[in-house]
Amino acid sequence: MAELIDGKAVANSLDEKTKAQVDEMVAAGMQRPGLAVILVGDDGASQVYVRRKIKACQKVGVTSIERRLPADTSQEDLLAIVHEMNADPAIHGILCQVPLPDHIDTRLVLRSISPDKDVDGFHPVNVGRLSTGTGGIVPCTPLGVMILLQSVIDDFKGKDAVVIGKSNIVGKPVANLLLDAECTVTVTHIYTANLSEICRKADIIVAAAGAPQLVKGSWVKDGAVIIDVGITRVMGDDGKEKLLGDVAFDECQHAKAITPVPGGVGPMTIACLLANTVQAAKALQAGNGAANDYADAPDRSMFK
Ligand code: GUN
Repeated sequence: MAELIDGKAVANSLDEKTKAQVDEMVAAGMQRPGLAVILVGDDGASQVYVRRKIKACQKVGVTSIERRLPADTSQEDLLAIVHEMNADPAIHGILCQVPLPDHIDTRLVLRSISPDKDVDGFHPVNVGRLSTGTGGIVPCTPLGVMILLQSVIDDFKGKDAVVIGKSNIVGKPVANLLLDAECTVTVTHIYTANLSEICRKADIIVAAAGAPQLVKGSWVKDGAVIIDVGITRVMGDDGKEKLLGDVAFDECQHAKAITPVPGGVGPMTIACLLANTVQAAKALQAGNGAANDYADAPDRSMFK
């Protein structure tokens, strides 16, 4: 049987570390970290995510500042709110929940968030820092993937890693982090030929294609480690909705370790958002932005 990588347990232990850091900061007379969450409109899924993020802040002692704006908020007004938050010393992290309504240029809004407060790690400055291995804020889900891998792998050097999916939010940043950890990385996508053969050689498979049950047991070599980022809602034969990952979990019990869906990567994302907020709060209060260059870069030893 493959070892089950319990995302909830790893996320809880990261939350404990984050809370301890917050307590330490406050005891040392520093400001309590503050996370601003902006939600525009009334998309149902976004409301659920935002509620979870706010609740998680309470768990670790991070102050949350919630801004709910109507769907017809103008781009100009939204940008003005972001600029206000950029200048607010009590706010150390800013997250603008996407998707935004169609009349708003999402890229422009995400670029308007100060890179030092960009706890999603979506700003081009942080993307550039990550791709050059020079610090910055790492996007939450990729950071969560690396922490889960680190919970079962001691030495990443020279390992063959395959990342399935080349999205800006997951695939590309995960590939960069694996490269940083000295893996040999193959990134595959919808036009990749021989995906099954590429997977068969891999020591590490990170599946982030959003294609339910894409990775079959016969694609996985004995002893591989599998992180399943995919989560797709499908209708079961019994007429009930269920969540499916990108990996045929039951067929992969010859792997060394595997994440379940749900309960694998999912819980890590919010825990990493809080860790990023604390990192940003520390860096800002030390006078270095969290997106500053390597000399001031955060310690990434947590996944090395
Ligand atoms: N919408 C869905 N996931 C995310 C996320 O991680 N960050 C933001 N800003 N919006 C999202």
